[in-house]
Amino acid sequence: MAFSISNIYKNLFPPKDQSFLGVDIGASSIKVVQLTRRHSRAVLETYGEIALGPYDGKEMGKAMNLSSDKIAEALTDLCRESSVTAKQSAVAIPFLASLVSLIEMPTSDPKQLAQMVPIEARKYIPVPISEVLLDWSIVPKEGKLYPTYADEPKQDQRGNKIDKTDVMVVAIHNDTVTKYQEIGAKTSLITAFYEIEMFSTIRALLDQNSKSVMIVDIGAGTTKLYVVERGVIRNTHLINRGSQDITLAISNALSVPFADAEKMKRDTDISSSQSDRNVIGMVALTLDYIFAEANQVLLSYEKKYGKTVDQVMLIGGGALLKGILPTAKKSFQTDVAIGEPFSKVEAPAFLQDVLKSANPEFSVAVGAALRMLQET
Ligand SMILES: Nc1ncnc2c1ncn2[C@@H]1O[C@H](COP(=O)(O)OP(=O)(O)OP(=O)(O)O)[C@@H](O)[C@H]1O
Ligand SMILES: [Mg+2]
Repeated sequence: MAFSISNIYKNLFPPKDQSFLGVDIGASSIKVVQLTRRHSRAVLETYGEIALGPYDGKEMGKAMNLSSDKIAEALTDLCRESSVTAKQSAVAIPFLASLVSLIEMPTSDPKQLAQMVPIEARKYIPVPISEVLLDWSIVPKEGKLYPTYADEPKQDQRGNKIDKTDVMVVAIHNDTVTKYQEIGAKTSLITAFYEIEMFSTIRALLDQNSKSVMIVDIGAGTTKLYVVERGVIRNTHLINRGSQDITLAISNALSVPFADAEKMKRDTDISSSQSDRNVIGMVALTLDYIFAEANQVLLSYEKKYGKTVDQVMLIGGGALLKGILPTAKKSFQTDVAIGEPFSKVEAPAFLQDVLKSANPEFSVAVGAALRMLQET
């Protein structure tokens, strides 16, 4: 399912420029991943991350809301520090800045859909339609990966045709698009397209043969949930807690500065009996909240659709917490794993180390870069 918010901005690629950069501007840090294609395989050339806090006098790990100037400065620094050579970039747009609605349309006729969806979408979007960039995509029907138009309409009990299509509608506020264009203009990168981060994420981690997975992206300020079946997003949810809340709780409870609390969080193995009980308690406050809400979303999805979610996949910087996996396994009845975004990517010897650990915080950047490889 190619979501093509993007096509509007598509530039022409110079054919010889074969390195592509995926850019993820998160609340607390920017991540970049540069890929190239070799013998039809995606090969990692470089990757890196830079904290945004210091660009406004704040600590590493803090969720920020910076101007396009500051973000462009940080991105430029990151590209320099990571020896990025690619010019063509794919930039992920935060889930927070997008409005996603799943709507049911009474037809599967593509022409009718094209006319009806923008009108129907107005009901779901709380701002004037002229203020958003609207895109939509048909959700494949059961048992078919690439549906849709040829699906036989079912009949109701009276023999009347029932011809319904689920459509995922995505709206992004024009202000967000403008801000991202400004950031792009202030760097030496060319933005080939924008993509909402959830689509980048699932490209990096899953494919059409994947089982049903609930991705839990634990960021700094928020946690994003996506229920994905065979590579298609079926449900999304935002939790207003993130890993930063753990740091704040430690900082408040133990009266230590944010930076010290951040270090304590990163150093503590929450599944070890050797670790400081106070710190573990503070971590549990937030993690329990996130996992409880995620569980609710998972169970209500299973109940509503009569389906089973096979795996919970943790990603984002929050999934780097030591001992998070055994803790999560106790919270979910479903199997839990840490997402490994570099698993679809090969690496030369000097970058092999990155493939040995999961690196769940690079999921969005890898997925955005992978799309560029696929489309060129
Ligand atoms: N090694 C680590 N151990 C524990 N927590 C970590 C570690 N590294 C990063 N984090 C935490 O992960 C969070 C950042 O995660 P991530 O980089 O995925 O967020 P983001 O993408 O900037 O934010 P968002 O997705 O909300 O926009 C921070 O709260 C940070 O403290
Ligand atoms: Mg993020």
